[in-house]
Amino acid sequence: MNVQSNFKPTAIADTPRIADNLLDLVGQTPLVRLQGYLDTADVNLIAKVEALNPGGSAKDRPARHMIERALADGRLSAGDTVVESSSGNMGIGLAQTCAVHGLKFICVVDPNAQAQNVAIIRALGGEIELVETAMDGDFLAARLDRVAELLRSSPDRFWPNQYANTDNPASHEAGTIAEIDAVLLDQIDYLFVACSSTGTARGCRDYLRAKRRKTKVIAVDAEGSTLFDGTAGPRKISGMGAGRLPELAEGQSFDGLVRVSDLACVAGCRRAVAREGFLVGGSGGGVLEAVRSMQETLRGKTVVAIIHDSGARYLGTVFDAGWVERELGASEAEVRSLAGLDPAAT
Ligand SMILES: Cc1ncc(COP(=O)(O)O)c(C=O)c1O
Repeated sequence: MNVQSNFKPTAIADTPRIADNLLDLVGQTPLVRLQGYLDTADVNLIAKVEALNPGGSAKDRPARHMIERALADGRLSAGDTVVESSSGNMGIGLAQTCAVHGLKFICVVDPNAQAQNVAIIRALGGEIELVETAMDGDFLAARLDRVAELLRSSPDRFWPNQYANTDNPASHEAGTIAEIDAVLLDQIDYLFVACSSTGTARGCRDYLRAKRRKTKVIAVDAEGSTLFDGTAGPRKISGMGAGRLPELAEGQSFDGLVRVSDLACVAGCRRAVAREGFLVGGSGGGVLEAVRSMQETLRGKTVVAIIHDSGARYLGTVFDAGWVERELGASEAEVRSLAGLDPAAT
């Protein structure tokens, strides 16, 4: 493959200004052409690299927006405590936002939370509230019950509730897609977006519809997720999919839907590294494999894929061959073969 590059060293005059605080670094993430991921060079595939937000994921955007909107309209005041149920990127984004604004943060997690994410939330000053017992086999219900209990026990507590809060999609409408559109204007034929709360997909779609852009928004969901009338089943890749329908997702429709298996996500992660040197997270691997599954129909088109986070968050799961074998029942050679890579070259 002949990789085209038009890189020019940054001139002193182009050096960005100094941000006023860490949250001012949220957004303005880069776009990169993925020239080798697909089997054909006829698709103009571009990735939005959300791992380059300061907290490492797209969730920095809604975390900041939900908190700053609540501070602006008085639902939240200096010294208050933010309470949220999350064990992943939203927990990290909220811990970061609360640290900058001098707010306390309690993050409700269950035993399935990845130890690395919990450690990051703690390191950012968040307090971890561990729910040890599921309610009727459901840890999400138990976590939400604990959130309600924490809110009842003190008046100075605020629950952003990312699954129902319209400031979540609004942050992507004002940021993620507006940034992409500022570069590509009406050139995007397809936008591929992984879904969980559906905040990212919904915010992007609302912007594109309001601007009357031609772009088709393709929702990418996990097999086993209940979004988009899916049937509940086991899911092992965190970040993508939902076990119950979020309020934000009710009545929402997109221009297309691709469901990806856990193994497809892992395969996409391997292929992104092998073909692009791009360490993407699990949902990013799924999004790229969703694009690959449609590559024949995408010939001649410009396609943007939002990559929510980095593979660095998944070293103990997606990027651990032992975990993949144990949890997904596939050897590294099988994963590489699924990814269209040489199975022997491990
Ligand atoms: C890694 C990753 N990918 C995709 C998503 C889905 O984003 P949204 O909740 O906006 O649908 C999330 C959300 O938590 C995520 O953490």
